[in-house]
Amino acid sequence: MCGIVAYLGCREAYPILIRGLHRLEYRGYDSAGVAVLNDKGKLNIYKAVGKVANLEQLAMGQDCSGSLGIAHTRWATHGEPNEVNAHPHISQSGDLTMVHNGIIENAGALREQLIKKGFTFRSETDTEVLLQLIEYTQQKHNADLASAVRSALKKVIGAYAIAVIDRKEPGTIVTARKSSPLAIGLGEGNSEFFIASDASPIAGYTNKVVYLNDEEVAICRRGEDLQISTLGADKVDVRIKEIDLDVSMLDKGGFPHFMLKEIFDQPAVLKDCMRGRLLPAHRRIILSAVTEHREELLNAKRYVMVSCGTSWHAALIGKQLIEQFCRIPVEVAYASEFRYSDPVVGPGDVVFAISQSGETADTLSAVQMASERGAMVFGIVNAVGSSIARASDTGTYIHVGPEIGVASTKAFTGQTTVFAMLALAIGREKGTIGEDTYYEALSELEQIPDKISRILEKNDEIKALAQQYKDNKNFLYLGRGMNYPVALEGALKLKEISYIHAEGYPAAEMKHGPIALVDEDMPVVFLATHHNLYEKILSNMQEVVARKGRVLAIVSEGDTVVKQIAEHVIEVPRTPNFLCPLVSVIPLQLLAYHIAVAKGLDVDQPRNLAKSVTVE
Ligand code: G6P
Repeated sequence: MCGIVAYLGCREAYPILIRGLHRLEYRGYDSAGVAVLNDKGKLNIYKAVGKVANLEQLAMGQDCSGSLGIAHTRWATHGEPNEVNAHPHISQSGDLTMVHNGIIENAGALREQLIKKGFTFRSETDTEVLLQLIEYTQQKHNADLASAVRSALKKVIGAYAIAVIDRKEPGTIVTARKSSPLAIGLGEGNSEFFIASDASPIAGYTNKVVYLNDEEVAICRRGEDLQISTLGADKVDVRIKEIDLDVSMLDKGGFPHFMLKEIFDQPAVLKDCMRGRLLPAHRRIILSAVTEHREELLNAKRYVMVSCGTSWHAALIGKQLIEQFCRIPVEVAYASEFRYSDPVVGPGDVVFAISQSGETADTLSAVQMASERGAMVFGIVNAVGSSIARASDTGTYIHVGPEIGVASTKAFTGQTTVFAMLALAIGREKGTIGEDTYYEALSELEQIPDKISRILEKNDEIKALAQQYKDNKNFLYLGRGMNYPVALEGALKLKEISYIHAEGYPAAEMKHGPIALVDEDMPVVFLATHHNLYEKILSNMQEVVARKGRVLAIVSEGDTVVKQIAEHVIEVPRTPNFLCPLVSVIPLQLLAYHIAVAKGLDVDQPRNLAKSVTVE
């Protein structure tokens, strides 16, 4: 995790760096720091524990001048979040300064070697070890900064995205990456450089971006074009991409939190997700990946889905959709388990990687392993140009715009929408879905954004309910079939931002354990929309009520039966079974949001979490 930003150009670096840190704060907010080299060659470094706002306060009134600087927002791995462990770190001589995102796995051994050579360490971080190694290499071989970085990185095991500066080379930033993301924006005359962990700090300054590949080193030098090389110093062509990032999406747009904005974004962004793909007028769904890889997708022995967190919940829905419409067997695996399980996967398999950020380390490694073993990799990703997108053979972007709130919302519905389109498109090609079902499904899918808008009108009603439930210590979320992953997702949302213990469970399984927990202090959220297992879920609800459990049920509009049993109900528009997650999840997102707000918690940046988990 962690976010890095760096700037070299003719503008003042500090405001650009701070703005960039705010945009990257979703990646971690244990501490923040900035180093700016002023015109007199003095390096001013400021670091603060906690959020970027604390850093700004600290730096207020201090000398932050200069047109070259590096900055960092931290999610602690090695060493507790304090000022000493905060980045930027300084080398022993005081000449080199560096920010780093990633983990140096052999830091312990390298530290021992450097101590023997006379180096001392101020912090507990792996970053300081890498920096001292660069300095040691520089001194030993009388090398320039870029050569020293290349040599040092050859000795490193682990993941890194770094930006390093040397007071002896005042017009240069050297940057490199392996398994941690890094983008370089090219500004004025190609000799203004915006370096960042993703393109969001760059958006608004330039749309020309270069994404480094693993084990590449870039030299950003005042007055010169960008130079890229391998660790072996072989020159690499500079591959410039044009990005199209809507800067307004990076602001809260009048909402108190990004999470609420992103919940309310859903009707519009799901239309974006379907635009040009779902074509009801032509009675077709067209996904270029399905057209281009028709044979591999239709003839696959099976599909395997790898993902983490909320994206894993979307994969569970994807499995049901694909098995229902395409009759292709699907396995769903946590990416972190898959990569260490010596999976039986190879030619003839299609591995779907589902990831909002496209940078989750475990998912990326699972993708690399699947590719090495000969499977075709299909990415379902939000962040355009991200590592997972680039490591995939093909894929479908969900196109829901940047998601900044740590608790994922619109990415989940975007992923589910892509799965629905994919299952229908492949099923149609394969002939496993009847014509009438297909046409009806297209029209139902098209109506989803408007149905979500209608649920969002219940925001105040859900806010009032949140007041009644906010002091409970435990929650159970129960659902069946398509609504089972929604129960998992509802429980995860509550845990993530309100710190209330919540469990999601398949409703019928409740009898095999969780029912023992049910009493008057245990709210049970039932997903009881009109879908194929509605009758069954009513029985499960009766079982809870018989044990004095408090039932809050999500029901379809017009339901009169559940109203008699449950303490509270929230109505959502009727949808066919295959689309019910897209409506039933919305009240759960709002419920978690309002409970967290009512508890006075930091909704967008909950403790201990980070949006993009780029470490194992
Ligand atoms: C983190 C985030 C979750 C997200 C998960 C997977 O835990 O806090 O919201 O679902 O990572 O992230 P990805 O970007 O791969 O979907």
